[in-house]
Amino acid sequence: MLMNRMESRLIDSPPRRLVQRFEVARLSSLGGRTPGARVAELGCGPGYGTKLILDVFGAATVDAVDLDPAMIAKAAGRLARYQGRVNLAEGSATDLAAAFAAFDGGQDGHYDAVFDFAVIHHIPRWRNALAEVARVLQPGGRFFFTEVTAAALARPSYQKLFDHPTEDRFTAGEFLAELAGHGLDVGDMWRTYIGGDYLLGAATRLTTRGETDA
Ligand SMILES: C[S@@+](CC[C@H](N)C(=O)[O-])C[C@H]1O[C@@H](n2cnc3c(N)ncnc32)[C@H](O)[C@@H]1O
Repeated sequence: MLMNRMESRLIDSPPRRLVQRFEVARLSSLGGRTPGARVAELGCGPGYGTKLILDVFGAATVDAVDLDPAMIAKAAGRLARYQGRVNLAEGSATDLAAAFAAFDGGQDGHYDAVFDFAVIHHIPRWRNALAEVARVLQPGGRFFFTEVTAAALARPSYQKLFDHPTEDRFTAGEFLAELAGHGLDVGDMWRTYIGGDYLLGAATRLTTRGETDA
């Protein structure tokens, strides 16, 4: 689901960039950096997270998708100097093979890491997005996520300011249980903030034997 005008402005602002640097510091301390990794990013928005995946996590390449062509255009401007390392696609995180077909991405086990900076709570069929994350990650690969829970979305302030899907939103526990159901093992590598409103973590894609390769 697309952001409304207020959220579109906020997401490309200095306060959001400050918060995102905090998120990246927490995520890398939980899940480690990803030097040389082939990465997929869900819902890249204006591309500041993409830049941090390259500069801070040390990824080699990022295939990034967003539903909103205006956000893809902003990201393209921000990321121009990373030419050759970033592929941007308009499409849905629920079908990465279709979104990334033009540059031969989105296949099973194609990525070392997948990033979700505050995107999956925007997706009506959020479980399908998590199934896609599990499908495109290679065994041992990492899923880094920052999410907004049902508790936050139910607050009058959130409802007044932003547009989100209203049905079937998730608690932190429901999100973590869904990860486990897709073979994404988060262990104790997750934290909640502000009374459970925000969830942040790093899960590892298990092998078919139910173990990591490490
Ligand atoms: C809250 S913004 C986060 C943007 C960016 N990741 C950040 O943290 O600054 C959510 C983004 O998800 C995108 N989005 C919503 N539904 C999507 C979907 N099904 N597939 C891909 N992107 C989606 C929106 O267009 C928006 O850019």
